[in-house]
Amino acid sequence: MSLEGKVAIVTGSGAGLGLAYAQELARQGAKIVINDINEEVAQAAVASITSAGGEAVAVVAPVGSSETAQQLVDAAVETFGGLDILVNNAGILRDKSLLKMTDDDFDAVIGVHLRGTFTCVRAAFEYFKTNGVAGRIVCIGSPTGQRGNFGQTNYAAAKAGIVGMVRTWALEMKKAGVSVNAVIPVAATAMTKTVPFFQKAVEADERGEAMPDFFRKELGFGTAADVAGVIAFLSSDAAEGITGQAVGVGGDRLQVWSHPEPVVQEFHDGGWDYATMQSEGKAILEGNKQSVGERFPELPAELQPDA
Ligand SMILES: NC(=O)c1ccc[n+]([C@@H]2O[C@H](COP(=O)([O-])OP(=O)(O)OC[C@H]3O[C@@H](n4cnc5c(N)ncnc54)[C@H](O)[C@@H]3O)[C@@H](O)[C@H]2O)c1
Repeated sequence: MSLEGKVAIVTGSGAGLGLAYAQELARQGAKIVINDINEEVAQAAVASITSAGGEAVAVVAPVGSSETAQQLVDAAVETFGGLDILVNNAGILRDKSLLKMTDDDFDAVIGVHLRGTFTCVRAAFEYFKTNGVAGRIVCIGSPTGQRGNFGQTNYAAAKAGIVGMVRTWALEMKKAGVSVNAVIPVAATAMTKTVPFFQKAVEADERGEAMPDFFRKELGFGTAADVAGVIAFLSSDAAEGITGQAVGVGGDRLQVWSHPEPVVQEFHDGGWDYATMQSEGKAILEGNKQSVGERFPELPAELQPDA
């Protein structure tokens, strides 16, 4: 098994994608620190791994604070003797359009995703560096962070911020031999199940059938298990040298996201003052407008959600 002898922390792994990641990492031989805020699902996740012959322990604590981050690293070291892999997956949604979004909605999402990723990565990297471990870190972004999405100010900020931190950490961690990548998943979970657009795919999955090809290929939408193999690969020694990347995965689709680059550059002696912007700059901006938001192909008639 490719992860034999490794120890992994997966945050928010009581359910959804995190549970699938933890189970796959365990299947590949890693010992797992399960983390969730929900004790019941955390213990069930541990049981699902131990009953399949793996090893796992649960830490029930909310990701966000430095204390929880340290608790997770300590649990890995005290229970399994070390730490090799961190998957920062815990997440929540508080979707509202801008004028309806409260300070609490904003802070809650930033706290779990952005701060939680920051504090956990800092604690894990400190362990890796001090102990000479060529660790692997996977952080979780979202298409919303890459492209923006209506009603997700807080989530877009957190997820774009996570990919920005990953690029920075790839630079800072290179010398220590630690790899850090972002995965941009799309899958049927509690978070996405109720989106009408995915209704026919979710219903097929719940009937135990494969999701229609259109979802798996055109939309890159599948099950949580579809994402887990990529997480396990990026967590392995085989992924050495792959760092600072944003990898999209869902259904049958694997994507490499580009990092932002200028699409055009022009020069004007003396710079771009207001008058020059009017006479020359305006045409450059108008001629090179970039799109925002995710682009979804039209669903075929038979895959449209029920009215
Ligand atoms: N489902 C998708 O299509 C999709 C797409 C893009 C990104 N993501 C991201 O993937 C991750 C997992 O999403 P999911 O769809 O499996 O969600 P989910 O809601 O099914 O599961 C999230 C889990 O995290 C736990 N959790 C919430 N807050 C926590 C905290 N502070 N500390 C520890 N655990 C906490 C929850 O109890 C839950 O078990 C999230 O970061 C999400 O933003 C999901």
